[in-house]
Amino acid sequence: MNGERTLEPAEPPLVPSAVEDLKSAAGCEAATDVASGMRLGLGTGSTVAYFLRHLGARLASGELADVVGVPTSIRTEKAARRLGIPLGTLSELAPLDLTVDGADEVDPQLNLIKGLGGALLREKMVAQASDRFVAVVDEAKLVDRLGVRAPVPVEVVPFEFDSHWKWLQALGADPRLRREESGDAFVTDNGLLIVDCRFVNGIDDPLGLESRLMHRAGVVESGLFLGLADEAVVAGTDGVYRMGRA
Ligand code: A5P
Repeated sequence: MNGERTLEPAEPPLVPSAVEDLKSAAGCEAATDVASGMRLGLGTGSTVAYFLRHLGARLASGELADVVGVPTSIRTEKAARRLGIPLGTLSELAPLDLTVDGADEVDPQLNLIKGLGGALLREKMVAQASDRFVAVVDEAKLVDRLGVRAPVPVEVVPFEFDSHWKWLQALGADPRLRREESGDAFVTDNGLLIVDCRFVNGIDDPLGLESRLMHRAGVVESGLFLGLADEAVVAGTDGVYRMGRA
């Protein structure tokens, strides 16, 4: 095994900062898309944490009613319970009306890289079960080409996980096992591992890469979310705006 790296967990901040203000603004705007009676997909990450807070506040004030959500991680499930957001399962609720989730990169066609928070598998299941999928990001996440900023997280079964290394390198990736700060391997909510695949000059062919990854035994999911997002809510220094596919 080689190339190990620790990623910070995506948790709500303790200290206010300009970027946190942007995340909050994006989350607040996306919460206005929710109407009473909706079945929601609830994403994971520090930007979605603000969406959940705004959604919880709208429910608590009585402005919204009969909303129920499917969480994409144990972290989101706990946050939603704390905020009084009713929860259900995909089998009970799909198809969902709307999923709101964060992203690590957004390209002009609204293709995404997701999963630095480790919830990519459940996030993709919920996104695929949604009539509408809105990504909430600050504008630093906008890229011309996927892979220039963030690695592609690849969720793999623990069995012989490092047997993928040479194969991933042949695809142009620099693969690293994701680790906790303690040095232990990061284990997903599904009991699986994550290999973060960095592409030095970005990804030439995201669709081709996704296809190769998804045909590889032992790979369970990738953080490439291609053709799934309908809109991005982007918070920048000049305000919040919405972006459709170019
Ligand atoms: C969680 O697994 C991820 O897909 C997040 O949605 C993504 O990493 C964005 O997270 P932040 O909003 O914390 O940047």
